[in-house]
Amino acid sequence: MTPSSNPVPPEVIHRVQELREQLHYHNYRYYILDAPTVSDAEFDRLLRELERLEEQYPELVTPDSPTQRVGAPPLDKFATVPHRQQMLSLEDAFSETEALEFDARLKRFLRAEGDFDYVVEPKMDGCAVELVYERGRFTVGSTRGDGIRGENVTQNLKTMHTIPLQILEREEPAPELLEVRGEVYMDLDEFKKLNDERLAQDEPAFANPRNAAAGSLRQLDPKITGARPLKIYCYGVGEVQGRKFSSHWQTLQALRAWGFRVNPLIAQARGIDAAIAYHHRIEHQRRGLPYEIDGVVIKVDSLALQERLGTKARSPRWALAYKFAPTQETTRVMDIVVNVGRTGAITPMAVMEPVEVGGVTVSRATLHNEDEVARKDVRVGDTVLVQRAGDVIPEVVQVILEKRPPDARPFEMPKICPVCNTELVRPPGEKVTRCPNPDCLGAQVRSIFHFAGKAAMDIDGLGEKIILQLVENGLIRDVGDLYRLTEDDLTPLERFAEKSAQNIVAAIQNSKTPPFWRLLNALGIRFVGEATAQLLAQHFHNLEALMQASKEDLLHVEGVGEQVAASIQEFFDSPRNQELVKKLRDAGVKEQPPAARAAGPLAGKTFVFTGGLDRFSREEAKALVTARGGKVSSSVSAKTDYVVAGADPGSKYAKARELGVTILSEAEFEEMVR
Ligand code: IVH
Repeated sequence: MTPSSNPVPPEVIHRVQELREQLHYHNYRYYILDAPTVSDAEFDRLLRELERLEEQYPELVTPDSPTQRVGAPPLDKFATVPHRQQMLSLEDAFSETEALEFDARLKRFLRAEGDFDYVVEPKMDGCAVELVYERGRFTVGSTRGDGIRGENVTQNLKTMHTIPLQILEREEPAPELLEVRGEVYMDLDEFKKLNDERLAQDEPAFANPRNAAAGSLRQLDPKITGARPLKIYCYGVGEVQGRKFSSHWQTLQALRAWGFRVNPLIAQARGIDAAIAYHHRIEHQRRGLPYEIDGVVIKVDSLALQERLGTKARSPRWALAYKFAPTQETTRVMDIVVNVGRTGAITPMAVMEPVEVGGVTVSRATLHNEDEVARKDVRVGDTVLVQRAGDVIPEVVQVILEKRPPDARPFEMPKICPVCNTELVRPPGEKVTRCPNPDCLGAQVRSIFHFAGKAAMDIDGLGEKIILQLVENGLIRDVGDLYRLTEDDLTPLERFAEKSAQNIVAAIQNSKTPPFWRLLNALGIRFVGEATAQLLAQHFHNLEALMQASKEDLLHVEGVGEQVAASIQEFFDSPRNQELVKKLRDAGVKEQPPAARAAGPLAGKTFVFTGGLDRFSREEAKALVTARGGKVSSSVSAKTDYVVAGADPGSKYAKARELGVTILSEAEFEEMVR
């Protein structure tokens, strides 16, 4: 970095310090406490101001400045760093008996009686890291490695907003040296999203959130890590100089006060019975948690006792990982069948010997598509590892090849639809095989089911089984027919009591005035999901306006690109769909126009994009802006607030510089909209 020629004025030094302090604090309020006290725009303004000052006076840049979270160049490989204190692992227990034995063992070892005070914590299923703070500043971060040495992933950890770059000193000063240990993880919904994106881009999916977290953390390019939604929960310390703790609980409270993210579910438990009760309670809550845990950790609270107990070869005597029933299990594939989705998409499914996975019996798992079956090479007769992650549909993780019988049968995608016998198609370049028959019973049932869904017409009680019954009995062919159903149509059918017939007919009739976006989503236009439906609804207000829109009109809607526009036009060009809309109208379906847009965090801000973006398509980037109340324009003027410059930006970049418009990198833009 070349220092600027002029000496730095004292007021600039002061302002830079002030800005950093404020930014560190607002980062803490936002990412650690989840309780911001300033708007995103205000935060952004402070960050921009700091950036400008640092640009002007590069000698003021420090590695722990809030501007330094992104931007480090990629590495060739990771260096290794020794841990001052070994990073141990934990002894596992899988039953109450084993937990009781652990407690009894401690009592014998210490020749003690009476209950121990324990601290009990969720056992996060991610990737262990150590964060070193010297005089309050984050200096080195590493993975656990072999426990003695880990990989230096400092630049990657710095991109994570849940990791403080500076220790917060509002409650107590930072110690001379502090090594914080914690688990980097990924929330389940983010994991799922990441995998969907990877599959769409022909990249292999991560087997579970743990692999996704570890893989993201071990990227040589910090920009990639920065784009992955990683978080951390801190659960302990390594070496500490300049501060003494007497208990583990006290340590965790101090970490919290210093601005580290500590799991809110941690608790104190007096005696092993209370710790076991905690295990049961958390196991119960587990399915509702946004992240994966694989058990609870029971730790002796007193550090004096911890010291007396000491460690064995690889794990401390004073702690126990009391695991839950696993969410991965092995079982045998008895058959591979295919499902017909609402768009006619054919999805291969493994039919398996029923097995309990994380407390739920599983007998079917999705295999996604033909290429995925081939990539995993799943055959009928194979023994496979299946997993459930949260509420996600169970999936086959991998084949246990050693157990493959000689007569294992490879899967072949059927040539004809198993429901309607129509020849299936798989257009070149697409992954999905489809049944092209619009009258296919399978697709009909699925599309009616989609129409009735919560984010669509929200018809309570209209499940797949009932729909199949209605279709099979010739009572409905498409969603338009639903509104003609009467109680008398339903009561003769099997399983239909008078009351339930009444309820369903009422639910159908009550669904006639949905918000426009839900009606749009209900129609099941390809590429028009909930988010796009909302953008379209904001723009067109009613169905007729959308149906009459030209391609140019459609492309004017932020978030709508060529593919979406073409799909919308194709949908409404089809006489069949026009007929369907007419049928819905005749039945009295009338959508509600959207309310005026609430002011979002980017309200009143105009963005211009130039150059290639890595992490978003242009459409996505535009949609992110408009969804937050901002506007996107195609040319730079004095009215432009931000120019987002991707790779090889064009003349708009020069224009922005000329006009003094704030220029954002893609990463900065991402931070702003996330
Ligand atoms: S304490 C000496 N607490 O589990 C104690 N570990 O098998 C060391 N883990 O490598 C760890 N949540 O990555 C501790 N609340 C928690 C934890 C936790 C997850 C992981 C950690 C460690 C592994 C030990």
